[in-house]
Parts: sequence; C-alpha cells; structure tokens
Amino acid sequence: MMKPLISPSLLAADFANLQRDIDSINRSEADWLHLDVMDGVFVPNISFGFPVMKRIAELSRKPLDVHLMIVQPEKFMNEVKEMRAMTMNVHYEACIHHHRVIQQIKEAGMKAAITLNPSTPVAMLSDIIQDLDMVLLMSVNPGFGGQKFIPHTLTKVKELKDLIERMHSKALIEVDGGVNLETGRQLVHAGADVLVAGNAIFKAPDMTDMIHRLKNLKAEE
Ligand code: DX5
Ligand code: ZN
Repeated sequence: MMKPLISPSLLAADFANLQRDIDSINRSEADWLHLDVMDGVFVPNISFGFPVMKRIAELSRKPLDVHLMIVQPEKFMNEVKEMRAMTMNVHYEACIHHHRVIQQIKEAGMKAAITLNPSTPVAMLSDIIQDLDMVLLMSVNPGFGGQKFIPHTLTKVKELKDLIERMHSKALIEVDGGVNLETGRQLVHAGADVLVAGNAIFKAPDMTDMIHRLKNLKAEE
C-alpha cells in the first residue's frame, strides 16, 4: 500500500520565524508545502500574498501546493507560475469556466487541481475529472486553520474514489482541514492520497515526528 503524501499548511507556522519553520519542513519527510492564499472576499479572512510567497518559494525545498481561496483565481496564473508552484488549486465555487482554467494551468506547466467546499458535491466534477491532476476536498469551511474536521468528508472521499476509478482518471485525492492522527487515519483508509495538516504539525511538540507519524498511518495497522 502507498503511504499518503503529507503537505504541511504553512498557515499554522510562526510567521515571525518563517525561515526556521520552512527549514524544519525541508528536513522532514513532508512531501510538499501547502500555501493558503485568502482574499477576504471568497473567504472571511486574509492570509499572505505573492511578495511573501516569492520568498517562501526561494527557501522551500519541497514542491509548492498552492491553495487559492480567492475569487477569479485565473487572474493570478502568471504570479503562481513565476513562483514555480508545482500545483495550482482553484476553488470550484470561485470559477465559472472550469475546463478553460484547468487547460490554462496545465499550459502554464503546473499540475491542475480543483478544490471543493464541504457543501459542493463530488458529482460536480464528473465532466472534468479526467482533466484533473488532483481534487482537494475541504473538510472544514475554508478561511481559518484549527477548525474541527467535518466527518461527512469521509463519504466524499469514497464517492470521489469511485468517480476517479469509473472515469479512469489519474487524479489524486487531497483533504484539507482538521487533519490530525485520528482523522488522518480515517481519511487514508477511506482512500485519501494526500493529507494537508496545519495545526496538527506546527503546534506539535515535535514537528518532524508528527510528520513521520502522519506519513506512516497506514503502516501502523
Ligand atoms: C483552511 C486552509 C487549511 C488550513 C488547515 O482554510 O485551507 O489549509 O491551514 O489548517 P488545520 O490543519 O489546522 O485545520
Ligand atoms: Zn488549504
């Protein structure tokens, strides 16, 4: 069985010690670095923008998994490309022409992912799933770290896995929000490929060990 990919969310890092926290991630078993961009319009919070992420990109040795919680994310295609992001995640609810946006992300040389809010059904992706490199399922309402995991996400992971298999898609399933050792284990068993975790990692007494434990959830049983 494949181990899950781990994508620590930098939103929970100590912003006064970003370099120290990025260095810890660099030295860990984490696979990617998850960056949450919020615009105060699509979500009721503002995080950080491109000038900050440009510096983060220079320091990170992990591929960047950029999660845009902003309206009209396609407007920032070039900025995301220029920071050499591996993946550009756009919200289903923030786009109108999903097919066009996905093709543009791929033409820009990035992996394309669509993110679903907790209330958006997996079925909305049935006509685009073959074009996607990844689907990001939100397991909290986006905007803040440290929220409680919504258990219905486990059903959505299974539905999404069925859709992916039925349509012969290669899309990975990533889950974001309230992921810890307990919910992470449930997600991995439901079929999640990638776990995003903010507070569970950055507020752990030993970040490196927590990443190791999340990475090895499958082997534990
Ligand atoms: C929430 C963000 C998440 C957040 C997760 O809107 O998309 O990536 O940082 O934080 P935790 O893991 O603490 O729920
Ligand atoms: Zn996120």
